[in-house]
Amino acid sequence: MSSITIKASADQAKTWTGDGLAIAIFEQTEFTLPKALKELDQQILAETLQELITEAKFKGEANSSVQARVGGKSQIRKVLLIGLGKAEKPNLDIWRKASAQATKWANQNNCHTLAIDFPLFNQDQAVTSQAIAEGILLSSHKDQRFKSKPDQSKSDQPGNEPSLNLVTLLNSAPELAEPGITSAQKICRGVVLARELVSAPANLVTPQTLADTAQAIASEYSHCMQVQILEKEECEKLGMGAFLGVSQASDLPPKFIHLTYRSGNEPRSKLAIVGKGLTFDSGGLNIKAGAGSSIELMKIDMGGSAAALGAAIAIAQIQPQSLEVHFIIAACENMISAKAMHPGDILTASNGKTIEVNNTDAEGRLTLADALIYADKLKLDAIVDLATLTGACIVALGETIGGMWSTSAELAQAINTAAESAGEKFWQMPLEDSYFDQLKSVVADCKNTGSRSGGAITGALFLKQFISETPAWAHLDIAGPVWTDKENSYNNAGGTGFPVRTLVNLITGYAS
Ligand code: BES
Ligand code: MN
Ligand code: ZN
Repeated sequence: MSSITIKASADQAKTWTGDGLAIAIFEQTEFTLPKALKELDQQILAETLQELITEAKFKGEANSSVQARVGGKSQIRKVLLIGLGKAEKPNLDIWRKASAQATKWANQNNCHTLAIDFPLFNQDQAVTSQAIAEGILLSSHKDQRFKSKPDQSKSDQPGNEPSLNLVTLLNSAPELAEPGITSAQKICRGVVLARELVSAPANLVTPQTLADTAQAIASEYSHCMQVQILEKEECEKLGMGAFLGVSQASDLPPKFIHLTYRSGNEPRSKLAIVGKGLTFDSGGLNIKAGAGSSIELMKIDMGGSAAALGAAIAIAQIQPQSLEVHFIIAACENMISAKAMHPGDILTASNGKTIEVNNTDAEGRLTLADALIYADKLKLDAIVDLATLTGACIVALGETIGGMWSTSAELAQAINTAAESAGEKFWQMPLEDSYFDQLKSVVADCKNTGSRSGGAITGALFLKQFISETPAWAHLDIAGPVWTDKENSYNNAGGTGFPVRTLVNLITGYAS
């Protein structure tokens, strides 16, 4: 994880000494500096700020910024002014984005120390400092594990590690701001774990690796985490024919992973997070062929399980009370060999339902069927599954918005609230029962795919069949947002760790 130290200090910009000062300000029609900054500008910065503001006609508009080097022997070497846009309806993500921008700027300018002088969100120091710290930690995580030499990209000093090692949040009451920073560190460890699992290729992240990761979380946090790994034989005994059908062409054995968080006291709520864990999806005999099939990207098909494990490691550190949370992953590869499923094969899931596999590339829902049946038996209040399930969801919502389907308006609302403060986006989609006609089979209880139209919805409807006891279920299709080709706000290119932060907010919400 990042070697950046973040601390809260009661210092004002005027009394701080260091390399870079980043100031964020809301938009104003007649732009004037707040009193403290005006004093700083006149006494220390030789009116550099005022000059910048006048010269650039800076008004604090969203996505605007100005910067300068401070001359002479000033106690501050460089300043950056960031516009936050209008103050009326601020969204917490603005703080993450601004602190990420400040962090990148500091590294580009070879700053070792950075001071952050931002206004508060909702007058709440803990929430504000958490968002700022998340922006710092997430933007400075750059995955260099598979480079033989460090990258020489524009955001770093040539050939060097990023320069920044200490960030100070100014104007803070440490007893209010430090808990926010600590929460950010716990959550970002989870986000980074998810990113690194998604970014690593399928020759390095296998079903065994996912099992090992769960095992490592359980050993590090043995006071609240327990793990059980079901091997192929045990899955056979449980009748998990849908999951095992998908795994059968691979040389790598499937692993059914069940990691459980228990706070010491009697749980008031019991939840499950079920993550799709295809460490590679070739498509099977319905192979992903031709341009646009993205077969080379299909290492990301364990993004749901990566987010589940990321949330688990964050929850283990946060230790929310009165909760029991089950993290469940049916991990395997979808490969091709003489042992592969034939298109048209009929599989029997662990609840006895028979499924005609009319497309071997709709494999995630087959593995999830057995994982959902298993979770549904645990007498839970809610189950949330996360899956890179369909290309259709990317067509519908694009690359940064996840699809959400739910049998409970309350759970859907809780997910929306959790996502909103996390700065992650979901859009609720319909569980249109009449579309289930597409999944009717001549020979079996159902088929695994319908027509192209509404493909993300029929995926959700397929999964819904395997929940019968649990009062609230949500399916999150995260095929788009788990990966980004280009760096954006606080994600560098690669795995994004979506939606670990939403999951953490959702889970901790059940504890309060
Ligand atoms: N893993 C894919 C979905 C996917 C596509 C994830 C692109 C990330 C990026 C899934 O297993 C799949 O192949 N879905 C099929 C379903 C179809 C056969 C009904 C799809 O989306 O084409
Ligand atoms: Mn597939
Ligand atoms: Zn898949």
